[in-house]
Amino acid sequence: MKKMTSFAFLLSILMSLTLISCGPTEKDTGAADVGIPRHVKKLVMATNAEFPPFEFKAEDGSFQGIDIEIMQAICKATGRELVVEDIAFDSIIPAVNSGKADCGVAGMTVTEDRLRNIDFTTPYYEAFQVIVVVKGSTIQGTDDLKGKRIGVQTGTTGDTLASDIEGADMNRFSKGVDAIVALTQNKVDAVVIDNEPAKAFVAKNADKLVILEEPLTKESYAMAVKKGNDELLALLNKQIERIKTDGTLDVIRAKYEGTADAAAE
Ligand code: ARG
Repeated sequence: MKKMTSFAFLLSILMSLTLISCGPTEKDTGAADVGIPRHVKKLVMATNAEFPPFEFKAEDGSFQGIDIEIMQAICKATGRELVVEDIAFDSIIPAVNSGKADCGVAGMTVTEDRLRNIDFTTPYYEAFQVIVVVKGSTIQGTDDLKGKRIGVQTGTTGDTLASDIEGADMNRFSKGVDAIVALTQNKVDAVVIDNEPAKAFVAKNADKLVILEEPLTKESYAMAVKKGNDELLALLNKQIERIKTDGTLDVIRAKYEGTADAAAE
């Protein structure tokens, strides 16, 4: 009888120990985190901060530009903390799809091709590709680009467009500014790039370079989210609508646009 009692006692201790050790494990995998996506607290934006005035690194190392401020405004309004992941432009979509980032915001043009891999928000900016050449160049339009050495940023719409030009000798750079530098060094004959970055880069080489007037495309910038992430897509769309209508976007644009023109004068 005495034996039984101590056995039962031991058993009860063992059982309660098992319960204790199960407890926390159950909590870890339990309800606490279920259904709350990661972006509720932090919103990770993948970008390529080599694209003024949309995203660039300021001298103090901080990220600045139209896209950065748009995302700061959205995060502020929705109680989130913005995290900027600065990566290669052609790594942005893979980063969003692997979950490394919640969204890609990088002056990214909506294209049929990209829509196969990613969802886009409603557009927030209209842009176009331009040709940059040295002053006095014989290149005066798209037709003159045939067989020429063309500089582009890898994986951009400028890259796609120029690659289709007959006999184009493609020179791909990881940064748009490197294509511009190559142009100033006569290593390429022309650069195909988005209009606003073109202005920003040319302003710094105003004595040497010009932007040809003829726009090559009509493009819309939007934010990329992983296919099926409808919750974040809806949130971003709602916020894009808001900043368009309440004047926030105009204020941000005015802060950055035209600064390059002013610098060039
Ligand atoms: N709009 C072009 C594209 O979508 C170029 C974007 C480059 N953006 C950047 N942050 N480097 O392909």
